[in-house]
Amino acid sequence: MSLLIAVPREVYPGEKRVATVPDVVEKLLKHGFRVAVEAGAGEGSQIDDAAYRAAGAEVVADRAALWSRADIVFKVRAPDDEEIGLLREGAMLVSFVWPAQNPALMQRLAARKATVLAMDSVPRISRAQKLDALSSMANIGGYRAVIEAAHAFGRFFTGSITAAGKVPPAKVFVIGAGVAGLAAIGAASGLGAIVRANDTRPEVADQIRSLGGEFVPVDYVEEGSGSGGYAKVMSEGFLKAQAAVFAREAKDADIIITTALIPGKPAPRLISADMVASMKQGSVIVDMAAEQGGNCELTVPGQVVVRHGVTIIGYTDLPSRLAKQASTLYATNLLRLVDDLVKTKSIDGATIAIDMNDEVLRGTTVIDKGVVTWPPPPPKLSVAPPAAAKPAAPAPAAAKPKGHGEASGPMSPAKALVFFGAGAILFILAGRYAPPSFLAHFTVFVLACFVGYMVVWNVKPALHTPLMSVTNAVSSIIAIGALVQVAPDLAHVAPGVARPDVLIRWLSVAAIALATINMFGGFAVTRRMLGMFRK
Ligand code: NAI
Repeated sequence: MSLLIAVPREVYPGEKRVATVPDVVEKLLKHGFRVAVEAGAGEGSQIDDAAYRAAGAEVVADRAALWSRADIVFKVRAPDDEEIGLLREGAMLVSFVWPAQNPALMQRLAARKATVLAMDSVPRISRAQKLDALSSMANIGGYRAVIEAAHAFGRFFTGSITAAGKVPPAKVFVIGAGVAGLAAIGAASGLGAIVRANDTRPEVADQIRSLGGEFVPVDYVEEGSGSGGYAKVMSEGFLKAQAAVFAREAKDADIIITTALIPGKPAPRLISADMVASMKQGSVIVDMAAEQGGNCELTVPGQVVVRHGVTIIGYTDLPSRLAKQASTLYATNLLRLVDDLVKTKSIDGATIAIDMNDEVLRGTTVIDKGVVTWPPPPPKLSVAPPAAAKPAAPAPAAAKPKGHGEASGPMSPAKALVFFGAGAILFILAGRYAPPSFLAHFTVFVLACFVGYMVVWNVKPALHTPLMSVTNAVSSIIAIGALVQVAPDLAHVAPGVARPDVLIRWLSVAAIALATINMFGGFAVTRRMLGMFRK
């Protein structure tokens, strides 16, 4: 009997999202699972039971029966006490869990011998982007924050000149240009506002500009990037300088959208009551970090309050306010997770397994068959730039293992001696016994490897995908070389130089085939990346 994925109705008050949608049900069935959805589960997302049935899911009215039959439960919000009681012993649960904030919940789930995959714990590395539900939700949240602001703001966003008078464009100031902040910048500039934004990580300045915003710098030299692509807690001096900039911006802005957060830390207080009081009457603040305490001193989480004539929106359910979109993206994130979990597919059903050597699955699995496995070891790959070299730091006695993305440090003198000594001996041997043409080619090859190594290894991991375009060019050179070998008649062959034999020609054909795959693959990825920035 194939594994049953159950999708219960969300019970958290006001939660409109659902963990799967009909399109995804079809794909789960193709994988070899059975899918059962609780009656009415999709109501908040405007998906009726008939749509689930049409996609091939079973619609179950008896909630307890659904939970007790489930091999895997898909949910959005972390389960409450009643739901944990319904979870079958040994079953798998996939949902948001927030293990750091919910130790009691973790203990109760572990006691049910459950295996729990937390969608909030997916490592934020390039390979995991397709299942990064936090980013999908933050993206929707950022967009919705602008819509909420527009709703509360009494004017157009875009400027215009009409017979009845001139309307100036709204000025929007976004604090924190992570996923939510960038989505807000894109949405607000799309509506015609003048958008300015600040972030402690200077590398986001270009992303802000590419979405139509202007980067507002803080005149204080301090690197804001921490590990794993997140920000770090800034010094007192920086925060003071930043507060002065924000005080100036608050006076000028009509709308402030704050998204500043460092994971695992309370939200930094960036907008003081005085700054709110200095804003124009009718201005709006949307505090997306409300759930973590808020970036604004006057925010009330989950509520809209008016202080000093400024509307402060502290909604903590912005993605749920665009429920259909949020459910679709979340369901797709879960499908991608399942893609990684499926070990074998057959007519009798799929089998799944968690590969704990896989960095993404390891990070996401917070409980494995009743054993708490959270927190995972820190991710190896960092999208942050390497730390600046410390002056005159003593060389460590033992070499540390390196992550993929780290820049290579200098070799120890003993290692360098062995490495270059072995290289020199090989070179002398090649010069002594190999034909002269080989030596010339070999020298070029060694130099090319060295230059390639120095160039590629010094590129930040965050830029590895654009590096694909460069690999295209390199592959094209391989193809040209191989073409000359395949069709030597077309190329100039110096008198007395032998034409390539059949083996070389066939090797060249293989080289052309591989280079072509690389070229087209690289162009396809580049095209997709560019597509992400096009409207
Ligand atoms: P993120 O980690 O991608 O972005 C946070 C950004 O804030 C980073 O770019 C970081 O550099 C910046 N930052 C940190 N400290 C700062 C400071 N002192 N000054 C300026 N910038 C600073 O996080 P993401 O995914 O964009 O989420 C942002 C916030 O939105 C989080 O608090 C998240 O919980 C919240 N959120 C709220 C929702 C809601 O319904 N209210 C929905 C989705 C997300």
